[in-house]
Amino acid sequence: MYYPEELVEEVRTKNDIVDVVSGYVRLQKKGANHWGCCPFHNEKTPSFSVNGAKQMYHCFGCGAGGNVFTFVMNYENYNFPEAIKHLAERAGVNLPELEYTEEMKVRENKRSRMLEVNKEAAKYFYYQLRTPAGEVGYQYLRKRELSEETIKKFGLGYSGKSGAGLVQYLKQKGFEDTLIKEAGLANYSERSGLVSQFWNRVMYPIFDTHGKVIGFGGRVMGDGEPKYLNSPETLVFDKRRNLYGLNFARTSKSGNIILCEGYMDVIAMHQAGFNQAVASLGTAFTSEQANLLRRYTDNVLLAYDSDGAGTKAALRAIGILRDAGLTGKVINMYPHKDPDEFMKSEGKEAFQERINQAENSFFFEIRVLAKEYDLKDPEAKTNFHREIAKKLCGFSEELERENYLEAIAERYHIGFDNLRKLVNTYAQQTGLAKPVERPKSGVQLKNAPEEKGKKAQRLLITWITDEPQVYTKIKSYITQEDFTDELYRKVVDRLFADLEQGTYNPAAIISMFTDEEEQRVASSLFNTNLPELTTRQEKEKAFHDIVYAVKKNSYEYFTTQLGADVTALNKVIAGKKALEELAKTHISLD
Ligand code: UTP
Ligand code: MN
Repeated sequence: MYYPEELVEEVRTKNDIVDVVSGYVRLQKKGANHWGCCPFHNEKTPSFSVNGAKQMYHCFGCGAGGNVFTFVMNYENYNFPEAIKHLAERAGVNLPELEYTEEMKVRENKRSRMLEVNKEAAKYFYYQLRTPAGEVGYQYLRKRELSEETIKKFGLGYSGKSGAGLVQYLKQKGFEDTLIKEAGLANYSERSGLVSQFWNRVMYPIFDTHGKVIGFGGRVMGDGEPKYLNSPETLVFDKRRNLYGLNFARTSKSGNIILCEGYMDVIAMHQAGFNQAVASLGTAFTSEQANLLRRYTDNVLLAYDSDGAGTKAALRAIGILRDAGLTGKVINMYPHKDPDEFMKSEGKEAFQERINQAENSFFFEIRVLAKEYDLKDPEAKTNFHREIAKKLCGFSEELERENYLEAIAERYHIGFDNLRKLVNTYAQQTGLAKPVERPKSGVQLKNAPEEKGKKAQRLLITWITDEPQVYTKIKSYITQEDFTDELYRKVVDRLFADLEQGTYNPAAIISMFTDEEEQRVASSLFNTNLPELTTRQEKEKAFHDIVYAVKKNSYEYFTTQLGADVTALNKVIAGKKALEELAKTHISLD
């Protein structure tokens, strides 16, 4: 933390969250909460709530949430210290000079210098595009039918014919060699010294959601290789966590996000008025990017190339979106290759039509699968049906599975009962409703089985913060260690310590985290939807179930750690004992 905790708390408590949010969103008091339309996603009926007692906000639509700092960070695009500064000023609190450690100073300084050098490079490229030497780039962009306005909006540029110009320019502006190199703008060699990474390319600056230039993509003029050259990963450029065009798409009111493959696709879409288009950054779509998108929408439309590579990439992206809990649909580009070409030949009305007809991602998967089989051959056809049945097992909710079963049976003329029998056979073999075979999506995949355990942990945390007196009832069974997610454990460490002191303050706990995504997750722990129960008996049963599930999850977790963690054995033994005890104990909620 940059400021002392007491000071952060002072600033927070002097800025009532209802007051602050009211400055941005029209709120109406209903019950314990104030309600309004969420400023972080597109909606017409209010699902955004601000709770004055808890000093927190939470959107039941998009999951945005946090304390007054989180709100200002999200709304104003501030980082944590900036949000503190802003709110301190608002409440008339004097802040001392920042207490940076030496290491933090160096890092912060380097980050901001790197953003500066990127910005300066973008300016240089932008200027080059308008010089006689840049004519080739300018003509290229005009030939691709980009308007002057679009070129400006995306800050497009040209990198010059030689590798020397940019380096010279940046040095003259006072940037050191090492910085220019570490920003990925130039490479160093013994023979030639510092040489620009990009030359003879049209330059696409890549912005983060705050509109800062974090890197570049450069398209070669003519047929050179590689067609697109991208900045390497740097201190400020994380390709897994940013999306091209998101700085604009984040405020789109379209209610969906369109995910494209290329920079030019995004630009063509925006020019045609589809300001919700984004693309990944020269790498495959990642689970981090899916999580990022979830902040803005739960409806993602894929506009990938219609060729084999594009289809493969789409299938992969569908799995990642599904893992992240997002709905994916596929836009059919046929007979064109990509959105850029589609837009040029058919125009925006036709594209809107394709958006409206976007295909359910499961149907898309099956349609692609069907192409692999010669359906005139009974054996191949049987195999196809088997594959379908396996995929249907991926729907763990029975109703959903039945609905898909019905639709697919009809579509491919398969007897409904036969297909259902087949599904049941596979479901039994593979241990019912295993998730669909998912493309390897790294982190997400690893977390998936834990999700249920984490849900119970969230429910318990929310319950305790809503009714702190229950803490004393469970403390002999549950400890910090039972919270198997690192962030959850940090929150609970503090929460339990506070409860021991007889004070607790969720909104203050959120300020322990300086990253807005972490603040959102921390705040979601206090805002999980608890089951709505009326009788005491029902409540006690539900509470017992949650406590039991948390303990069981941690017991299972430590069992898997046996061998890797020397303390795990003790925890497993203690866990087993606690579970047995819990099973025969009634926890009363009086
Ligand atoms: P495409 O080759 O489909 O790009 O690659 P495009 O937008 O259609 O290119 P144009 O229209 O010929 O200019 C899609 C995306 O894949 C990445 C880039 O991000 C590109 O926008 N890519 C492609 C690379 O990073 N390097 C390459 O060599 C090629
Ligand atoms: Mn293309």
